[in-house]
Amino acid sequence: MEINASEAAWAALMALAARPDATAIRPLFAADPNRFARFSHQAGDVLLDFSKTALSDEVLKALLALAEARDVVGFRARLFAGASVNATEGRAALHMALRAAPEDQFRAGTEDVMPEVLAVRARMEAFTRALHEGCILTAKGERFTDVLNIGIGGSDLGPAMVARALWTDKAPLHGHYLANVDGHAWTEMQARLDPTRTLVLVASKTFTTQETMANAGLAREWLSAALGEAGAAQHMAALSTNLAATSAFGIPPERVFGFRDWVGGRFSLWSAIGLSLALTLGWDAFARLLAGARVMDQHFRDAPLAQNLPVLLALVEVWHVNGLGYPSRAVLPYDERLARLPAHLQQLEMESLGKRVAVSGAALNRDSGPVVFGEPGTNAQHSFLQLLHQGTTPVPVDFILVARPDHTHADSHRKLLANGLAQAEALLMGKDEAAVTAEMRAAGVHEADIARLLSHRVFPGDRPSVTMLLPQLDAFTLGQLVALYEHKVAVLGALWGINPFDQWGVELGKQLANVILPELNAGAPQRPHDGSTAGLIGKLAALWPEGRA
Ligand code: F6P
Repeated sequence: MEINASEAAWAALMALAARPDATAIRPLFAADPNRFARFSHQAGDVLLDFSKTALSDEVLKALLALAEARDVVGFRARLFAGASVNATEGRAALHMALRAAPEDQFRAGTEDVMPEVLAVRARMEAFTRALHEGCILTAKGERFTDVLNIGIGGSDLGPAMVARALWTDKAPLHGHYLANVDGHAWTEMQARLDPTRTLVLVASKTFTTQETMANAGLAREWLSAALGEAGAAQHMAALSTNLAATSAFGIPPERVFGFRDWVGGRFSLWSAIGLSLALTLGWDAFARLLAGARVMDQHFRDAPLAQNLPVLLALVEVWHVNGLGYPSRAVLPYDERLARLPAHLQQLEMESLGKRVAVSGAALNRDSGPVVFGEPGTNAQHSFLQLLHQGTTPVPVDFILVARPDHTHADSHRKLLANGLAQAEALLMGKDEAAVTAEMRAAGVHEADIARLLSHRVFPGDRPSVTMLLPQLDAFTLGQLVALYEHKVAVLGALWGINPFDQWGVELGKQLANVILPELNAGAPQRPHDGSTAGLIGKLAALWPEGRA
């Protein structure tokens, strides 16, 4: 019965998508002077304008009917109730508890998670304040100046993105992020830092991740060489769910900040994994980040679907991916401080939604998560936006604009905003043959050249985008924006019937790397491989003979 209702809703949506005018956006504006007002909604500080998409009233109604048929409301209730929404791992997904206020209630199953959340938060605050006030000092009795976060994936991208977005020259400590197991990254980092003044945070949910544990080992050797083993211990802390492993690594319990398995890696920046943010931006900024995310949590939990920003963003994505068959999406923040947001969203969205089977295990009969990529504007305009304007397949865009800058160069900021608005308008309106011809004639171009160049200079238009507008970028508004994307991902999981909280697809490569590692030591394959991999192992052994351990 339920399956039939969803399939009927999908069929109704696909019937609208099959209409010849399904991709047309310009006529929707022409027909409705109120389109901007009717197809944009505000939640907290975030204005979401989705009027520059081909969503008509009819399409939006069909999308909302799909959300109803897919029981998004029920899914949302189960998510907030701490039900086991991460079915393949038998866990809740309760990152909202991490930014909850003391009076809020969150349970994972029957367990009240708030006492532990608040206790860890209090320990993080106490540690942060003690460090800033000079009550916790280096092994040499001086103030720490730098924090090095060693982690990868969700234990790096979220904190690194926020640190980049909110850093000011008043920041109490300098933050650094080391992710890759590439020794070049470590060499470069080591050259930049003084071990006698650096606090090293080993950030790993599992505390088994190969890259992180290798880098943590290098960092511990580096600290020990400068400070001795006891001194090195004073310069380290761990952020993890795996208390046995942090203790085996030699980090004392008072330097371990824990969280629980119901926090997914890509949703973990609000947990102890965010300690680098508290240390480098200040506790108040971290608390504001959490408070901002809570605003979006409450909006997502309480707002009707038709005014619910995460739901609307997810429905727009379904229209683009499933209705119109657009396989990718670009994220263009017109704010240099958000330079790492596309990378964070790549993990958040592609690790969550890159699934080919439903929660039931059955193969999906429609597409799921698109490829997500992006760069800050205006830089992106001078690299890949050509393809977005004139390539063969439309690429929907998320434009992120910030109204008020935190600098005094108003002219630069006006130019930045003008470019963001212009790109979205150009994608939408395009430029037809008549306009191109008139423009070339006015410029005195010869008729033969006009004929030769005309099609190259035409922009098809009707290329969709959404715009998210923030009044300013600060911890509070950034918290709202990131939580908006998190909930969008959860809604898409419900709409597509997939589990957005697991990531089995990362396992095979990890297993094979463990097979290949000893083979690189030995200089030859020891197990069967495909011909290419075996050949490359042999070539590497020949090119780097000293690489054998
Ligand atoms: O390999 C992918 C992944 O498991 C991500 O989901 C996670 O964010 C990252 O690795 C790091 O994992 P951990 O925090 O356990 O080191």
